[in-house]
Amino acid sequence: MKYGFFDDERKEYVITNPQTPFPWINYLGNKDFFSLISNTAGGYSFYKDAKFRRINRYRYNNVPMDNGGRYFYINDEGTVWSPGWKPVKTELDHYECRHGLSYTSIKGEKNDIEAEVVFFVPLNALCEVQKMKLTNKSSKTKKIKLFSLIEWCLWNAEDDQNNLQRNFSTGEVEIHGSTLYHKTEYKERRNHYAFYHVNAPIQGFDTDRESFIGLYNEFSHPDAVFTGKPKNSEAHGWSPIASHCLEVELQPGESKEYIFLLGYVENTEDKKWESKGVINKTKANRTIEQFNSSEKVNRALDKLATYWDNLLSNYSIHSGNDKLDRMVNIWNQYQCMVTFNMSRSASFFEVGIGRGMGFRDSNQDLIGFIHQIPERARERIIDIASTQFEDGGAYHQYQPLTKRGNNAVGGNFNDDPLWLILSTTAYIKETGDFSILEEIVPFDNDESRAKTHFEHLKASFYHVVNNLGPHQLPLIGRADWNDCLNLNCFSKDPNESFQTTENQTGGSAESIMIAGLFVVYGKDFVELCRRIGRKDEVDNAQEHVDKMVKSIKKHGWDGEWFLRAYDSFGNKVGSKDNEEGKIFIESQGWCTMAGIGKNEGMCEKALNSVKKYLDCEYGIVLNHPAFTKYVIEYGEISTYPAGYKENAGIFCHNNPWVMIGETMIGRGDQAWEYFRKICPSYLEEISDLHKTEPYAYAQMIAGKDAFKPGEAKNSWLTGTAAWTYYVITQYILGVKPSYDGLEISPCIPKTWKSYTVSRKFRGAVYEISIDNSEGVNCGIKELTINGETMHKNVIPIQKAGTINKVNVKMG
Ligand code: GLC
Ligand code: GLC
Repeated sequence: MKYGFFDDERKEYVITNPQTPFPWINYLGNKDFFSLISNTAGGYSFYKDAKFRRINRYRYNNVPMDNGGRYFYINDEGTVWSPGWKPVKTELDHYECRHGLSYTSIKGEKNDIEAEVVFFVPLNALCEVQKMKLTNKSSKTKKIKLFSLIEWCLWNAEDDQNNLQRNFSTGEVEIHGSTLYHKTEYKERRNHYAFYHVNAPIQGFDTDRESFIGLYNEFSHPDAVFTGKPKNSEAHGWSPIASHCLEVELQPGESKEYIFLLGYVENTEDKKWESKGVINKTKANRTIEQFNSSEKVNRALDKLATYWDNLLSNYSIHSGNDKLDRMVNIWNQYQCMVTFNMSRSASFFEVGIGRGMGFRDSNQDLIGFIHQIPERARERIIDIASTQFEDGGAYHQYQPLTKRGNNAVGGNFNDDPLWLILSTTAYIKETGDFSILEEIVPFDNDESRAKTHFEHLKASFYHVVNNLGPHQLPLIGRADWNDCLNLNCFSKDPNESFQTTENQTGGSAESIMIAGLFVVYGKDFVELCRRIGRKDEVDNAQEHVDKMVKSIKKHGWDGEWFLRAYDSFGNKVGSKDNEEGKIFIESQGWCTMAGIGKNEGMCEKALNSVKKYLDCEYGIVLNHPAFTKYVIEYGEISTYPAGYKENAGIFCHNNPWVMIGETMIGRGDQAWEYFRKICPSYLEEISDLHKTEPYAYAQMIAGKDAFKPGEAKNSWLTGTAAWTYYVITQYILGVKPSYDGLEISPCIPKTWKSYTVSRKFRGAVYEISIDNSEGVNCGIKELTINGETMHKNVIPIQKAGTINKVNVKMG
């Protein structure tokens, strides 16, 4: 069953039934000020950091689901309803939610009143705009009361939920005309406040939650709304809110617009106050002034649309297949921007308090993003590298506000360093900007210990070389990409986290996934050294890569597939000899991407085994058979029930690795089949089962051993976004940035006859048409650029500003 439809023309997903199988959300904001918004207007906003600068309160995992948001209530002569259906849940005559690129528009209609609210965060602004349009569709005059509601969070989202003995006494507000200010802790160490404004006179307001709602009521039944009487309450402690009440009279056919603004302000110490105890409102007024009319707001909306059109125009395809085109041209790129901005911090599954920017996650996210805004990608790479240690190791995450690494989610994940080589080389291939390598970048944020960025990459490379185990394979450390394969942990205590608990000393478990990863990015490192004339590095590095290939062939092959690891006793993990977890996806992906044993048929065998043991109707599961009991020497992986998460779930992030592997041996049909299985637009019809948004990838889909195979969880913030974008654009559609130009090497299903790609690359445009009338998977017979025949498949870089016609004939 579907709950809406794609409107590709407007780049929107339109939800027509508010009761989606799970809240279907969108993200507003592109820099600094962000909001999450569900299809019923639930969610919250924050400034830069979802934990430390949470603006409004949101209650995760509550009853009902999706509790808290920016709510509007209409009291139309006793009939009370909300345009987004929630929180009142009065049945609407019409409902529609349009999630677009960085905006959401929600429209509700009841008894001939239509209310349409457009929510967005304007570019370069520190506020969320809510443009409310009320229309009287009846033939008589209507007098209604409109109430808004925001519940303030006392800034630190974690403390806000816990430290009630303090928090119930600290809340402070200020009321000034139609603007309601939240200034808790502003008089002490905070330099920020928030405000909620409407550009019209108000009949009344509330700033104290209990006065507005009533102690024993719910969001669905606020006292003030149902009685039609705001209490003009002033919060002192307890739970401050902001609610406006407007009296609106509408003639038949008449529409009125109101602009609500939820804003954030930072002031320097000397500019905090206007007078004793009265906050300085200069900046707030400036923001209000910027968006206090429909015209100004519409202009800001237009700018936002242009901004997105521009970003998306860097890569677009026409394949004649809507489901594919809309993912590549719109939604997958959009999700890549979201993961770039959020890392794994704030979604409807990530509560915005636990996880900052992940070292490995953020590096990987970049491969889906660099072509959109390379300058921001560059800045991000340097931010990440600045948290690295001198020996190449890394904190697992850093906090976006301070940009400092921390141990909150553990450390010693030995795959971490290598991803920096991926992001940096991807950045240089896209931009040609080798100067990033000469940038002076601190270690552990300590400026006195800074070296060139190139030295950071070298440290990453040698971190693996310097940490080899008994089989000359990389030591896994706490875990590799698979956070839950904790081979040195041996945890017996349910109160400790697998991520942060003390590892057994001298842990000697080894990872074949890291080995494959090292070969892939080790080769890239060697190539990079060659390009920048670091001949002194080349031979040495190459030797280490060659040795690793040998070790994998010797100790990492199990006959039909690649082993996954050696545990800390030196026993094989992911082998036919194991009872459970005989085969794992990660090492098949990375070793085939690295082309290990390709000539000897190892890649093909490994991929055939993936098909045979790991593939299922909804994607490729992580391991097989699923673990059914806790294996203490494996750790968290065996804690999950069979078929979920890292225990034989379809952990979508790693599926593209196998797709790339398939393209390495030319199997375009298989690569595509795997792509299609996890692609959300192809799952729209089974939304009841799939549950999460049909326009965003989820981290995990329950695998074949699960209770409900095919059910997805944890949508939005997943490496799947970047990797699927990377594999479809570069390996399947086959348009790949390289140091020397655009490399063209499609690997597609035989049945595809033709498609076109428009790619902006280093300032020039390439209009590429691919002709596959011969019905092959891969191979190029003829390639011309502007009519001129090329003898290799890399199109040399053309002059900036030019538009170039590229014709490719496969065969
Ligand atoms: C989550 C983590 C990521 C990890 C993956 C597999 O997606 O964010 O870092 O690699 O799980 O465990
Ligand atoms: C990753 C994994 C998850 C694990 C978590 C621990 O996100 O996906 O299964 O519990 O890391 O931090």
